[in-house]
Amino acid sequence: MTIPGRHAAITGWGMAVPEAILSNADLERMVETSDEWIVSRTGIRERRIAGPDESSTSLSLAAAREALDRAGVSPTDIDLIICSTCTGDQLLVSQASLLQAELGGTAGAFDLGAACSGFVYALSVASQFIENGAATRILVVGVDTLTRYIDFTDRSTCVLFGDGAGAVVLEATTADRGLLASVLGADGTRWDSLYVPGWSYPAASPDAGVNGAAAAGGEAEFAVATMAPAIAPAAAAIEQRPALAANPAMLMNGGEVFKFAVKVLAESAAQVVEKAGLSLEDVDVVVPHQANVRIIDAASRRLGIAMDRFVVNVDRYGNTSAASVPMALYEAAEDGRLNDGDNVVCVGFGAGLSWAAVALRWGAGREPSS
Ligand code: ACO
Repeated sequence: MTIPGRHAAITGWGMAVPEAILSNADLERMVETSDEWIVSRTGIRERRIAGPDESSTSLSLAAAREALDRAGVSPTDIDLIICSTCTGDQLLVSQASLLQAELGGTAGAFDLGAACSGFVYALSVASQFIENGAATRILVVGVDTLTRYIDFTDRSTCVLFGDGAGAVVLEATTADRGLLASVLGADGTRWDSLYVPGWSYPAASPDAGVNGAAAAGGEAEFAVATMAPAIAPAAAAIEQRPALAANPAMLMNGGEVFKFAVKVLAESAAQVVEKAGLSLEDVDVVVPHQANVRIIDAASRRLGIAMDRFVVNVDRYGNTSAASVPMALYEAAEDGRLNDGDNVVCVGFGAGLSWAAVALRWGAGREPSS
């Protein structure tokens, strides 16, 4: 149960991006595209691409260390690490555990997968732990290296995405600061608007449905005959198991995702503002997922909130999935756009299809030190 007057405030923030910049001019040499098309249709001018020495672990570590330093919190003081990602470096081991191995400490650590909505989902989840007293300090990370799952001969996706990480420290406060309300949503029936076929099991396709055995092929290399009769049914199941598709590259219905994004960005922002007991005029800054500047522009018009109250950095980083909202929040904080007491709305949307919005009052909520 929520403890009255106990809130989860952001006390530290950090971000990290790979060294290598992939510009629109570079892409012009790779696929049939132009700087003019990319800028006018998306607002993106360049994005960062993780190199061989960079990973979701290295990027999240750099972002997390910066956030912890700024908050003045040591990794061993953290109660929980929540890492939002769909591109962790390991299949079985959570990205949060890999990050903790580098940071130190024994805090609970788990991943939250909601693609580009993940960081805002994670803020909402983390705030519940703090508000009910189960945790006092939580590290929330958004990291993705989605370019590893992009086909760089497919111009419809390769111009859009980049890699990066952002992190915040949430701490309990009794001051009137921190998360005020959240709205979470998903429409799982539209999973095939944006997905990676090579990671589907069985290899799914829009034609075959979510359990698309029809699209699967190949056979596992197990010999039923060599197994004990007692396990024959299981062995047969293994033998008949379809292979995973070879090419793990993203497929996207851009037009459908575009319309979905404009709708849920505007609707969930309006809902969370109302839930927080505010009106749209009270909103000082909106930090939306950075997928396409036209999506942000259309949502701004629907909401009647001027573009100058939206944070936009998609021009420099493209769509960094779960990292996009914390990276935009970081830059807004560093640029002095977020003042103590400001009402801030963060909104994510993406694969799932999923969406999430939080309203928060900016400020660490700490007593000024004497
Ligand atoms: N360069 C040049 N031409 C291109 C390119 C390119 N890079 N990509 C597509 N085109 C062409 C298409 O082939 C099409 O040509 P045609 O008319 O001859 O068929 C034409 O441009 C127009 O294509 P549209 O798809 O209509 O272009 P649109 O204006 O819709 O823009 C875009 C496409 C940018 C993908 C847009 O639909 C979009 O941003 N959608 C949302 C994507 C998104 O947000 N995805 C991420 C969600 S977050 C997550 O969870 C990861």
